[in-house]
Amino acid sequence: MSQSTTPGAMDAYWMPFTANRQFKKAPRVLTRAEGMYFRDDKNRQILDGVAGLWCVNAGHNRSHIVRAIQEQAAELDYAPPFQMAHPKAFELAEKLVELTPAGLNKVFYTNSGSESVETALKMALAYHRIRGEGSRTRLIGRERGYHGVNFGGISVGGMVANRKMFGTMLSGVDHIRHTHDAARNAFSVGQPAHGADLAEDLERLVALHDASTIAAVIVEPVAGSTGVLIPPQGYLQRLREICDKHGILLIFDEIITGFGRTGQPFAAQTFGVTPDIMTVAKGLTNGCVPMGAVFAKQSIYDTFMSGPEHLIEFFHGYTYSAHPLACAAALGTLQTYAEENLLTRASELQGYFAEAVHSLRDAPNVIDVRNIGLVGGIELAPLPGEPAKRAFNVFLDCYDKGVLIRTTGDTIALSPPLIVEREQIDHIVDTLRAALKRAA
Ligand SMILES: Cc1ncc(COP(=O)(O)O)c(C=O)c1O
Repeated sequence: MSQSTTPGAMDAYWMPFTANRQFKKAPRVLTRAEGMYFRDDKNRQILDGVAGLWCVNAGHNRSHIVRAIQEQAAELDYAPPFQMAHPKAFELAEKLVELTPAGLNKVFYTNSGSESVETALKMALAYHRIRGEGSRTRLIGRERGYHGVNFGGISVGGMVANRKMFGTMLSGVDHIRHTHDAARNAFSVGQPAHGADLAEDLERLVALHDASTIAAVIVEPVAGSTGVLIPPQGYLQRLREICDKHGILLIFDEIITGFGRTGQPFAAQTFGVTPDIMTVAKGLTNGCVPMGAVFAKQSIYDTFMSGPEHLIEFFHGYTYSAHPLACAAALGTLQTYAEENLLTRASELQGYFAEAVHSLRDAPNVIDVRNIGLVGGIELAPLPGEPAKRAFNVFLDCYDKGVLIRTTGDTIALSPPLIVEREQIDHIVDTLRAALKRAA
C-alpha cells in the first residue's frame, strides 16, 4: 500500500456519497487508467463496467483529449467568461449544436451536471417572466428523479435520501409519478410496453395548480441514478404533447444519456422527442475536466435577447463557465467520438448487450432486468431488513474480481465505455453472475 492510502493519511478527506468509515477500513484506490481499464494501488487491473461514473464514454486516457488539455494549459490557462471570451468557447458551441436535436441550437456552459440543472431551471423561470408570464414559477419534477445535489436539483429530484436532510428546499415544486411498473413491465427488453398513460399525471398537476403557474417539467429520459428506469413506449411523446398544450417548457436532463449512451448522440433522438431545454455534462469532456452545458431552443434565446442590447440578458454564470481547459477537452472528446463513430456505437452493440444482461434473469435474487443502448439495470431482491446491502456486497465482490460495476439501492447499473468489446461485455456479465451466486 502506498503512503497516500495508509489509514493515517486518509483522515482529512471527507468523501462524497461514500460510507467514509467503512471505506477507510478497506479502501479502493485507483491510480491509473487506460482504455477500458483502471489500475489500482495494488497494480491490479479493473475492467470499467460503468465508464467511471457514466462519463468516460470514449474510454480512459485518450490521446486527442490528453494532448488538447496539455496544449491548452500551456497556451491559455484561463480567460474570464463574463464580458470576455476565447476562441474555443465559440468553436465548441458550433460543433455541439451540429450534434443536438434540430432546434436546440444555443449553448450555455456550466461546470457540472448539478450546475446544468440549476441553470436550466433558472432559464425556464426567467424565460416566462420576460415573456410577461411571471406567474409561471412552479417547477415540476418526477418521483425517483435525480438532478444533482444543489437546491434546485434536489427540489425537483425525487430520491428521498438526497432530500430528507435538507429542509424545505425550493417552494412551489411538485412531482409527477415515476414510470417504474415492475408488475407489468419486469424483464422488458428495451422500452417497456406499459405506462405511456403515466404521463397523464402531469394533467393532474395542471388541474391542481393551473397551467398558468407552471414554468417547466424536468425529467431524465432514462432515469439512471434511481435504478435505470427506461421510459415506457409513448410516454415521452405524451409528456411533450401535454407540455405543448399548456405552454409548459419540457427539460430533458441528459447528463447520463447524452453523448451516445442510448445509441444516438442524445436520448431525445433515440426516443424521437425534442425538449425545449436539455442539460448535459459527464460525456461532454469524457470526464477529463469538469464541464456541463445547457442547450436551449432559438425561441428561448430570442426571448432573452428582446431587451436593450447593452444590458446583460441572463444574470447567471460561473467563474469557470467555458473554462479553456474544459473547452479543449470537449473538442478533443468530440474528435474522438467522431473518428470512432462512438456516438452511435451503442446502437450496434445494444442487441448483444441486451442479450448478455438479460441472461442474468435466472441468477439468484434477480427480480428485474432493464436495458437500453449500453445501459443495463439488474434489480435484486433486498436482503430482509437491509435494503441496498445485497447489491453493495455484489459490487464489493466484483471489484475484488477486477470488474467495476455500480449500485444504487438494490439495482446494479452497467454503463461501460462506448468502446467496449463483446468479450468485455461477456467478462462483466460473467463476473456479475458468479458474484450473484456467491451473494445468494
Ligand atoms: C441525470 C443527472 N442529473 C444531474 C447529475 C449531477 O451531475 P454532477 O454530479 O456532475 O453534478 C447527474 C449525475 O449523475 C445525473 O445523473
